[in-house]
Amino acid sequence: MSDLLVIGSGGIGQAFVEQSNIRDPDSRVLQTRRNASGEAEFILDLTDPSTFQPCIDQLKAFEFKPSRIIFAQGLLHNDTQRPEKSLREMDLDWMTEVMRVNALGPMAFMAQLMRLIPRQSAVQIAFLSARVGSISDNQLGGWYGYRASKAALNMLIKTLSIELSRTHPKVQLLALHPGTTDTELSKPFQARVPEGKLFSSTFAASALLDVMESVSGGQSGQFLAWDGTSIPW
Ligand SMILES: NC(=O)c1ccc[n+]([C@@H]2O[C@H](COP(=O)([O-])OP(=O)(O)OC[C@H]3O[C@@H](n4cnc5c(N)ncnc54)[C@H](OP(=O)(O)O)[C@@H]3O)[C@@H](O)[C@H]2O)c1
Repeated sequence: MSDLLVIGSGGIGQAFVEQSNIRDPDSRVLQTRRNASGEAEFILDLTDPSTFQPCIDQLKAFEFKPSRIIFAQGLLHNDTQRPEKSLREMDLDWMTEVMRVNALGPMAFMAQLMRLIPRQSAVQIAFLSARVGSISDNQLGGWYGYRASKAALNMLIKTLSIELSRTHPKVQLLALHPGTTDTELSKPFQARVPEGKLFSSTFAASALLDVMESVSGGQSGQFLAWDGTSIPW
């Protein structure tokens, strides 16, 4: 039996859990969330390192044997902060928070999680990135913090893929873009999304699971969109 671990219980994260349970009923699907809401939950706040070890210990107690791990957490806005339209709106604390949730936290947790992954295990580890994190594709500007955090995430993924190719040759890392998807994260920005271009969480998760299946066992360190096309870094 193999395990799937989904980090985050937002719109797309929840849909990954549901779709994976349907596709692969023999696997265990484990999920982390920031706040407890039931029994046997894995509590993890990627900006709070004190939650890392208890989560790792719990995974160990579950005899965690992953075949796939998906980082589906993310931060674009909150009740008081919106993505920056111009340099004037730069706020160091907010930008630091976005960077911690989207890029630094996941890699800090990965450093601990890798201790649970034997050197010869075949594990696919996907991180939800975003097309706006592509430096070469940046046509519109704006969204300084979010763009920078996803570009940083992409660089961390690429760098880790090189290290793991030496130590864990069967681990595959992927940066994935789900497309604009109807979740809390995109809600304030949906008005200008063209008709038919706003995906449901179920569609986005399902499309990305198809992509993951199609590239499984292939090159590590790819940046791919929901339709399987490659995105330039
Ligand atoms: N929706 C889109 O259009 C779109 C487009 C491109 C890329 N993406 C990416 O897709 C991913 C999933 O986004 P979504 O649309 O599903 O957003 P969402 O519904 O807002 O979910 C985001 C999740 O991130 C979790 N989170 C926030 N801070 C965290 C922290 N410190 N530690 C652990 N988890 C934390 C939230 O937990 P709580 O529930 O506890 O707040 C929530 O479960 C993100 O990386 C996002 O950047 C989304």
